[in-house]
Amino acid sequence: MKPTLIFLLLLPFLHAVELDTISNSQFLTDGDTLVSPAGIFELGFFRPGSSENRYLGIWYKKVPDTVLWVANRNHPITGASPVILKVDNPGILILSNNIITLWSSNTTNPSQNATATVHDNGNLVLMDQQDKIIWQSFDYLTDTLLPGMKLGRSFLSGIEWQLTSWKNNQDPSPGEFTWGADQDSLGYSENKLKQGPSVTFRGGPWSNQRFSGVSTFDMNLTFEYEVVLNASEVSFSYVIYDSPIISRVTLNSSGQLQSWVWIENGRKWQLALAFPREICDSYNVCSGYASCSLDMIQQSCACLDDKRFVPGNPKSWERADWSGGCVEYRYEPISDTSMS
Ligand SMILES: *[C@@H]1O[C@H](CO)[C@@H](O)[C@H](O)[C@H]1NC(C)=O
Ligand SMILES: *[C@@H]1O[C@H](CO)[C@@H](O)[C@H](O)[C@H]1NC(C)=O
Ligand SMILES: *[C@@H]1O[C@H](CO)[C@@H](O)[C@H](O)[C@H]1NC(C)=O
Ligand SMILES: *[C@@H]1O[C@H](CO)[C@@H](O)[C@H](O)[C@H]1NC(C)=O
Ligand SMILES: *[C@@H]1O[C@H](CO)[C@@H](O)[C@H](O)[C@H]1NC(C)=O
Repeated sequence: MKPTLIFLLLLPFLHAVELDTISNSQFLTDGDTLVSPAGIFELGFFRPGSSENRYLGIWYKKVPDTVLWVANRNHPITGASPVILKVDNPGILILSNNIITLWSSNTTNPSQNATATVHDNGNLVLMDQQDKIIWQSFDYLTDTLLPGMKLGRSFLSGIEWQLTSWKNNQDPSPGEFTWGADQDSLGYSENKLKQGPSVTFRGGPWSNQRFSGVSTFDMNLTFEYEVVLNASEVSFSYVIYDSPIISRVTLNSSGQLQSWVWIENGRKWQLALAFPREICDSYNVCSGYASCSLDMIQQSCACLDDKRFVPGNPKSWERADWSGGCVEYRYEPISDTSMS
């Protein structure tokens, strides 16, 4: 037999397997992937950029080059040794090279015969035999927030949901920047961007709202934020309505939060929003009689002279909506305070 023929005969056996479940008896090995029921998300092994190291990650099945979550970001798989991912009793996801464990899930309530699947929202979940979630990747965010993921804190588990940037494009280990939740002096939750221990930007207090009008491209997006503050958690999450789109919010390695939308026809990511830098860069963000600065801890915009000018719409101003600008302070209400 000619070598090429042998190769062709072997091909079907080398072909990657798409699993829907991982268990104690069904493992994920190199080249295989674990796919969500509707085929939206995929978990598998990847190499970032030109790095030789391998990692276990999740991506949109249609966009395999953009990794959204990394399991072993601190413990790369080096060398070519084969690795497997399996669910070990009692209910722990284990990534190993058959000699040592490279990464494992931090399962707090382990349970026998658990199984792992990827949901159609991108959550890798480990479930016990009663289908109760005993561990989920949405509790351990990396640099990307997907619709339905939460930022904030769980008072029950003590877990803090925050984004941490990659070191660089070749290295998903934690970089300098984090984006999470903080409480302001009045007890309201707000987003904070930190570089190391110091806060470099605050996003203004959270509130439930819809915000639309992102129209840098031929699509209308309506984001809706959900804020939860109750005895079990304080959290912030978002969904995008009106279009079945592929999107992500990523904290990049230079500390910029970028909102991306996948353009199917062009087969590329389109930047929809980026901040904080571009908050000040964008035209007239603070509107009349106000100035923009990233050095201000509380908010980006301030009235030029706080004795002469006050926010035109104080309520919106507090929510980081500066479109009302500042207006001259008057004792008597005046009918037309609009600025041109
Ligand atoms: C594992 O979970 C516990 C309890 O939620 C937490 O305190 C600990 O930091 C976690 N460890 C890792 C490596 O995530
Ligand atoms: C786990 O699965 C094995 C094999 O199917 C079974 O024998 C065992 O009873 C199961 N354990 C539990 C706690 O259900
Ligand atoms: C976006 O919304 C505007 C106003 O509602 C509408 O005129 C336009 O057709 C919409 N564009 C798309 C691509 O849906
Ligand atoms: C808090 O809100 C979350 C999300 O809606 C919900 O799952 C949880 O049960 C709530 N906790 C309490 C104590 O109400
Ligand atoms: C991070 O995002 C900003 C703003 O979109 C961009 O200018 C910068 O090049 C990005 N950095 C990296 C490392 O991709």
